[in-house]
Amino acid sequence: MSTPPALETLNPFDPSVLSDPWDYYRRVRERAAVYREPNTGIFLISSFAAVSSVLRDWERFSNRFARAMGGLGGPPPEVLEVAKEGYPPVDTMLTADPPEQKRFRKLVNKAFSAKRVETLEARVEEIASELVDRIEGRGGAELLSELAQPLPLTVIAEQLGAPREDLARFRKWTDGFVAQLSGVASLAAQVEAARLIVEFQHYFAAKLEERRKEPHDDIISDIVHASVEGERPLDVTEMLSILQQLLVAGNETTASAIVEGVWLLIRHPEQLARVRREPALIPNLVEEVLRLATPTANMWRICTRDTEVAGTRIPAGAICMVRFAAANRDPAQFPDPDRFDVARANAAEHLAFGMGIHHCLGAALARKELIVAFRTLLARLDGFALDTSAPAPRHRPNVLLWGFDSLPITFHRRLS
Ligand code: HEM
Repeated sequence: MSTPPALETLNPFDPSVLSDPWDYYRRVRERAAVYREPNTGIFLISSFAAVSSVLRDWERFSNRFARAMGGLGGPPPEVLEVAKEGYPPVDTMLTADPPEQKRFRKLVNKAFSAKRVETLEARVEEIASELVDRIEGRGGAELLSELAQPLPLTVIAEQLGAPREDLARFRKWTDGFVAQLSGVASLAAQVEAARLIVEFQHYFAAKLEERRKEPHDDIISDIVHASVEGERPLDVTEMLSILQQLLVAGNETTASAIVEGVWLLIRHPEQLARVRREPALIPNLVEEVLRLATPTANMWRICTRDTEVAGTRIPAGAICMVRFAAANRDPAQFPDPDRFDVARANAAEHLAFGMGIHHCLGAALARKELIVAFRTLLARLDGFALDTSAPAPRHRPNVLLWGFDSLPITFHRRLS
C-alpha cells in the first residue's frame, strides 16, 4: 500500500479532497480536535465534543461569516455589479448573531413548527406518490432529478405560493444559490448565480405583496404576517433574505439525504432487508442516513476573541470551520462510526442539523420529507441496484454541502 500524502500537503478546498473527503476528515480529527490548517490558516473543528462546544458558544464563535461564504475574499466586482439590480443582502438567521438572529427565529419559528409540518404530511405523501407513479413502471430512474430534488422543491415551492409551472425556475434558483456557496465556482458561474438571485428576488417581492394583501394557509403567509410582541415585523429585504436561505438550506440538503440513503441501502442489502421486515425502523434509518451523509458537511464560524478549544489556541478574527460530517463519524461518540446500522441506538444524536441557537429551522420538515420518501420508495419499489449503463455518480465538489450529482438506479415494482 502506498503511503498517503502528508496532511500538511493537502489543501482541504482542493476538488480532489472535496469529492472524497472522508479519509481527510478522519486524519485531521485524529491529528487534533481543533487543527490549524497550514495552507489556509483556517481552524478545522472536527471532534464531536469540540464541534458541540463551539456550536453552543455563539458569543465566541460568530455566524457573521457572510464575507467568508463562496470563497474567502468576498464577491468579485462583476458579481457586485449584477447584484445592484436586486435587493441588498441582509444577514438573517444563518448569517446573523443574537439579538438579530433571535428576532428572526422568533418571527419565523411558527412557520416551521411541528404543528405546521403535521398539517403538511398528507400533501408530502401525495407528492412522493405522484413522483413514484412517474417512474414505477420504467424499471429505472435518475433518482436525484426525478424524485429526490422534486420532492422538497415542490413542497417548499407550494408553501411559498409558487404555481407548478414555476418549479423549473425554482430549481434554477436553488442551483444558483448552491453554486454561489460552492467556494469553487468559476467567475462566469458566480455572475450567473448572481443574476438568478436577482430574478428570484423580483419574483418574490411581488409574491410577498400578494400575500400581504390576501393571506393563504401557507408558510409564505405566515412569514409575511409574522408578529411577536415587542419585535419589529420583517421588512421586504429581510423576508427576501429569509426566503433565499430557505431554498439554499432546505432543498439540496434534503435531496442529498434521500439519494445517499438509497445508495447506502443498495450497498447494504442486509440493512435494506431489515427495514423491510421492520418498517417501524424507518425513522431511525433516516437518522442514521443523516449521520453518515451529513448533507451540510461544514459551516463557518468567526472567532470573536482569543480563546482555546480542546487545547488549541484560536485567535480573535480566525476563520473556523465546524465539520458536522467529521463529528458525526467520531468513534468517541458513535462506535464503529463508518458502519451503516439502521438500528443504531444513538443515531439521532448526530449533528447533521447542528445544535444550539442555529439548530436547523427546517429539521421537522426535512425529517417528515425523508420519512415519507423512504416509506414510499420501500412500499412501492424493490430490487434497487445501481444502473451501471449510466455515467457513474460522483460527489459534487462543494466546500459546505455534500451530495451526489446524480444517482441512476434500476428497480422493479414491488409485488406485495
Ligand atoms: C436534510 C436536510 C437538512 C439538513 C442536513 C440541514 C442542516 C442544517 C444545519 C447543519 C444547520 C445549522 C447551521 C449552523 O449551525 O450554522 C441548519 C440551519 C438552518 N436550516 Fe437546515 N438543514 C436541512 C433542511 C432544512 C430545511 C428543509 C429548511 C427550510 C425549508 C432549512 C432551513 C434552515 C435555516 C433557515 C437554518 C438557519 C437557522 C439559524 O441560523 O437560526 N433546513 N440546517
